[in-house]
Amino acid sequence: MDRLDLIIRDACLATGNERTDIGINAGRISALAPRLPETGQQELNAEGQLVTVPMVDAHIHLDATLTVPQRTTNQSGTLLEGIQRWGEIKPDITIEDVKARARQAILWEVAHGTLQIRSHVDVCDERLVALKALRELKHEIADLVDLQLVAFPQEGVLCYPHGKELMETALHEGADIVGGIPHYEWTREDGIRELEFVFELAQREGRLVDVHCDETDDPESRFVETMARLTQVHHMAGRVAASHTTAMHSYNSAYGFKLRRILQKSGMAIIANPLTNVVLQGRFDDFPKRRGMAPIKDLNEAGVPVALGFDCIMDPWYPLGTGNLLQAAWMALHLAHMTGQTQMEQIFRMATINGQGVFHPGQPSDLAVGRQADLVIWDATSPVEALRLLPVARTVIRRGRVVAEADPARHSVRYGGKTVSLDFRPHSRV
Ligand code: FE2
Repeated sequence: MDRLDLIIRDACLATGNERTDIGINAGRISALAPRLPETGQQELNAEGQLVTVPMVDAHIHLDATLTVPQRTTNQSGTLLEGIQRWGEIKPDITIEDVKARARQAILWEVAHGTLQIRSHVDVCDERLVALKALRELKHEIADLVDLQLVAFPQEGVLCYPHGKELMETALHEGADIVGGIPHYEWTREDGIRELEFVFELAQREGRLVDVHCDETDDPESRFVETMARLTQVHHMAGRVAASHTTAMHSYNSAYGFKLRRILQKSGMAIIANPLTNVVLQGRFDDFPKRRGMAPIKDLNEAGVPVALGFDCIMDPWYPLGTGNLLQAAWMALHLAHMTGQTQMEQIFRMATINGQGVFHPGQPSDLAVGRQADLVIWDATSPVEALRLLPVARTVIRRGRVVAEADPARHSVRYGGKTVSLDFRPHSRV
């Protein structure tokens, strides 16, 4: 009888209740069946817990991570003070410093079940220090995690000295993807010129596009529609994402309807960052304060692919976080009013399968035979229970190899002369 490299026994899949064994050989899923007759060199018992494809952090800034509170703080908590504080410490960063901080954040994300990370990297720096650092780190940790680097012009392209040249140089110095920030340019017209440059550069270099777009409360900020049109003109369906897009929460209903329709037709994806945007947006509002997130429920219902990002871990824009994408998903479902049973399952897909579609356009992304064996055994029995419990990732598997493990949290309460164990599940024995 065949002996497989690894078998995960008694797994509960996101798609159904039937317990499944997962066979893994040569780093790929080789078999899925209720009871595999083979044996494994290594066998893991999932004990009926959920096994899924890994989380995808579709948007983070690893160059600025872990700088707060040691290096700087943001007293007002605003987006603009965040840019100011980052600009103050940026001249002092070094390659080893960026690598050490980013490596730490990546290990945190892996421990939480994330194996694909897309990091924006500030290229408004003649030295391109952050890019050089993350390029090195990307190769050093390639066995552990897939890291994509976006050339991100934090301080603009047209309004920053040599902005275009820096973007082009960044692509030749290791950036994978063309970024942008059109709403930061001085005029609407310059924002459009920036996007035209971004798309022409991406097409010339054969790259994906991921633009910080309309990250403002201003309902007049409408660069996403320009991105949709340029995606169509350049035949880049499936290869373009707009990140943040928080101005969408302020559009009138008629315009929102039109925009969702053209987004769906264009084949663009939207990447929402609920944790940071819920605290950064609405800062000029009295009450009620706007929610600070793209309307992901409406976008999802319109057939627009939506993925999620953590965006910031302990940096000038967001002082908290451990890189647990389940927390971002949890926040997203609350902000979007997506507490319906199917809607919560869709939120989990945004954090996993949808993210993979953005990360690797055109590649199969669901758990299936032939897929690379990147898997997570959760301490929960379903995606919805994972969103309720925010459990640990018990075992994280990369290409058929265990790369992270965690013990499930256990609690006990003493009362009436006895000790009661709790795991916050309805079937817990009292
Ligand atoms: Fe961002």
